[in-house]
Amino acid sequence: MSSTLKKVAAGFATAALLVGGVAACSSERGGTTDPTTSAPEETTSAPDETEEPATGADITSVGIAMPTKELERWNRDGAHLESLLKDAGLETSLQYAENKVDMQITQLQNMINDGVDVLVVASIDGTALGPVLQTAADNDVIVIAYDRLINGTENVDYYATFDNYRVGTFQGEYIVEQLDLDNAEGPFNLEPFAGSPDDNNAKFFFAGAWDVLKPYIDEGKLVTPSGKAPASNDDWASIGIQGWKSETAQSEMQNRLNSFYAGGEKVDVVLSPNDSLALGIAQALDAAGYTPGEDWPILTGQDADQANVLNILAGKQSMSVWKDTRQLGDRVATMISQLAAGEEVEVNDTETYDNGVKVVPSYLLDPTVVVADTVEEILVGSEFYSAEDLGL
Ligand code: BGC
Repeated sequence: MSSTLKKVAAGFATAALLVGGVAACSSERGGTTDPTTSAPEETTSAPDETEEPATGADITSVGIAMPTKELERWNRDGAHLESLLKDAGLETSLQYAENKVDMQITQLQNMINDGVDVLVVASIDGTALGPVLQTAADNDVIVIAYDRLINGTENVDYYATFDNYRVGTFQGEYIVEQLDLDNAEGPFNLEPFAGSPDDNNAKFFFAGAWDVLKPYIDEGKLVTPSGKAPASNDDWASIGIQGWKSETAQSEMQNRLNSFYAGGEKVDVVLSPNDSLALGIAQALDAAGYTPGEDWPILTGQDADQANVLNILAGKQSMSVWKDTRQLGDRVATMISQLAAGEEVEVNDTETYDNGVKVVPSYLLDPTVVVADTVEEILVGSEFYSAEDLGL
């Protein structure tokens, strides 16, 4: 082992200890992870015969490419991962790309030119990185897809994310329970939204939710006055909000309210895949005169962003699926430490994430539902937020 490598492996001892708890949780994970396949595999390692990237690599420098600073979660993601890697003695370059695909490609190209050994990429458009990642491969750079899968290239070595399908089923199950759909007759007015069509995660979120809700739609217990209910999971992009933009979700919700609810009908439930959309949807509901505690509809979300947690406490959002982004950073740091130490990289899913060229060995983490009553216990208890952050 070279001296740099020894230093890196030693530096990572702390990170590895940190994630011990995460690994333990994950092997107990239940639930399905894929719209089409069943339960995830037990923790396992990538098969030897596949093109295992150079293990025991001399890793001194890591490029971290994040999509945008606009959304709170990516700021947290970037800052946490960067500090973990720095503490382990690595050089890092953390870049945000204003949700612009070209800018992200340029940033990746520059990182490769600067000689990074590993790229950690939360892609903006998961289908647009093939050429630049070919350059990465030509320069022996190891590529880890972060949170979002990178499609259409063999040059992605590992994927670390949360169980995206489970995020959607949590949202669907919450709606079923809150409306008591197994017993109630309905019909309830449901307005569904989906995430950005260029984000591979969005189809998993939608499929998870729709697999739970569709039977009640077929039964007529859930109806969609706007008609914006995809006929099947495959049509999810027809209600996708490009770039996950709050403003687009807000105007879409406003349009639906103006066009289909003008006669006094009320929305009972809005399926929102994440918090940035939920924020815009809540603004549209506010503007249309909906009142928390009275006729405010059930509204789902994801990420537990601060503004949304405040909305949950104010009765303007019902739940959020929280993904502790610290765990994701810890997992990626562990992957890098395993690569640096020449160990096999631990993954727990080798079936679900087919990027069109290969199934990318993945590590899936567990998301958690947060509602008003559990905000303090879960989000403050875990020190994700301070009580002050949330006005508690
Ligand atoms: C992430 C979500 C996030 C969304 C918008 C998705 O890929 O998994 O956590 O809300 O992007 O940034």
